[in-house]
Parts: sequence; C-alpha cells; structure tokens
Amino acid sequence: MAKKRMLSGMRPTGRLHLGNLVGALENWVHLQEEYESFFFAADWHVLTTDLENTGKINEDTLQVVIDWLSAGIDPEKSTVFVQSKIKEHAELFLLFSMIITVPRLERNPTLKEQVRDLKSKIVSYGHFGYPVLQAADIIIYKADVVPVGEDQVPHVEISREIARKFNNLYGNVFPEPEPKLTFTPRLPGLDGKKMSKSLNNAIFLSETPDEIFQKVRRAITDPQKVRKNDPGHPEVCNIFAYHQKFNKEEIPEIEKDCKSGILGCVACKQNCANKISDYLAPIREKRVMYEKDMDLVKDIINNGNKKAREEAQKTMADVYKAMKIG
Ligand code: TRP
Repeated sequence: MAKKRMLSGMRPTGRLHLGNLVGALENWVHLQEEYESFFFAADWHVLTTDLENTGKINEDTLQVVIDWLSAGIDPEKSTVFVQSKIKEHAELFLLFSMIITVPRLERNPTLKEQVRDLKSKIVSYGHFGYPVLQAADIIIYKADVVPVGEDQVPHVEISREIARKFNNLYGNVFPEPEPKLTFTPRLPGLDGKKMSKSLNNAIFLSETPDEIFQKVRRAITDPQKVRKNDPGHPEVCNIFAYHQKFNKEEIPEIEKDCKSGILGCVACKQNCANKISDYLAPIREKRVMYEKDMDLVKDIINNGNKKAREEAQKTMADVYKAMKIG
C-alpha cells in the first residue's frame, strides 16, 4: 500500500530553539519514517507580519533548513523545499481566495490574536489571507496529514473546508487534510513563559555548552527556594521541566534531593546544562558540518524544490481540468 502523505512547514524567522525541537521537529523526524513527507520553509508567510526586514529571510531560510537536517530530517526520505520557489502555491492561493468567504476568514481565531499584537491593528490583505495561502501549501501536495501545534488547527480546518468546497463544486480532486497534533509536554522558556525567540527566553540548537550554561544559570527556578538548603518544589521549576526531557534517568533522585533541600539550584543547573549540551551535541556537530558546506545545503533545497514543483504542477493540471479553465 502506498504511504500516506504528510506536509508541514515553518516560517523562517531565525534559528530554531529547544521548544521548536521538542514541540515540532522531533515529531517530524519520527513521522518521516511512516509518511511520504514534505517539509517547507514558508518564506512568503513571513511577509504577513514582517515587511521591514525582508533582507534576512533568505539567510533565515538556510538556517532553518540546517536546523531541520541537523535534527534528523533526511533528504533521502523527505522533500525539503522553499515556498517562494514553487510559484504554483500562489496560483492555487488565487483560486482558493475565490472559494473562501470574507466572514469565514474574519472568524479565524489566530488572526484575532495576531491583530491584538499588531501595533497598527490594521491587517494587510495578504495577512488576512494567511490561512488561504496555507491551504494552498497543504492541498497542492494532496497531503493527508499535517503535523501542527494547537494554534494551527484552525488553519487546517479552513484548509479542509476549502478542499471540501472545491470537491463539491468541481469533482473529487483533493483529500481533506487532517491535523496531527503532537502530544509532548510543553517545554517552558527560561522564565517559565512559552519559549520564544522574541521573549528572549530560548536556548537555540546552535548554542555551545558554555552559552547553554550561561543561560541555564540565569533561569528562574522555584521562587520559594531562596537558599541552597530550602526545600524545593520541582513541579513548579523550569529547570526540573528540562530534566524531565533531557535527564530522565536522574529524575527520581533530583526530585527527592530538591524537595529535601540537599540539592541546591546551582549544582542542579550545572547538571541540567550539561545534559542539555549532551543532548544537543550530535545536532551541533551536524550543524557545523552543514555550515561549512553550504553548497550541500543548497543542493538539498534545489533537489527538494524540483520534486515539490513536479508534484505541484501535476496538481495544477488536475485543478484546471476539473474547473475546465485554462
Ligand atoms: N502557519 C504555520 C506556522 O506559523 C506555517 C505554515 C505555513 C504551515 N504553511 C503551512 C504549516 C502549511 C503547516 C502546513 O507555524
């Protein structure tokens, strides 16, 4: 039986951090064994919220792809590509923009949230159409499943509606893509908030053991544990959350010694930083290798673009045939 198809993407906005690794990337690496996989950098989507710094998008795209490859995305198994190199996404986006209604897009909860954060509060036409472009990204590859975080589920739902409406109008051309949620415990940032580049609370995959140590050293732990021998509360401690992910074997001991007060935060953090560094060591090594061989990275992307483009062109032929235009 043919493998099902999976597609996912990220907006290239800079280097990836531990939250991206645990929340998305490790899941992709795992799923690429089971599905015929497509992963792409959504560089056009960056423009929806950041028109000023377009000069860094290309470099960010390369860095994101290096992070993917270093974390285990295998270009022999998966197609890795860049959105803006496959013009057919824009073409299908145009057709889909006729299918979706304005009130439906106004109900998109992700948009409402983003508008709240926008300085101007005024949304561009392209930003408003964010989920329509995302629908085109997904549907142009006839993807069956889309691994995403919770916040992206409304967008996949819009994609499903567009696929359904297209099929009703013109015949059965597309599968309805299904969101596939990752169930990993959330990895907090160094301050306990959601790990995010903009909050300055992230540890990046590219960081050295010393950089990691300096960051972990300053992380917020249990606010009630002020002196070394104060009894701690691991369940509220960010560092303990990292131990749970990167230092599973020592969990019972750390929990016991933190609670009793034998273990102080300084030693606990040093240990934690070492474990994170060990965990990232193979990724960091591969990163260095790819950074030295950018031609290889570009070859991988060019090959992926070529494969993606062939698939996208096949789909567009189906689309025009079904719609009897062109
Ligand atoms: N909107 C996604 C995000 O911000 C990125 C994205 C764009 C995407 N197109 C996609 C994800 C298609 C999955 C499928 O994370």
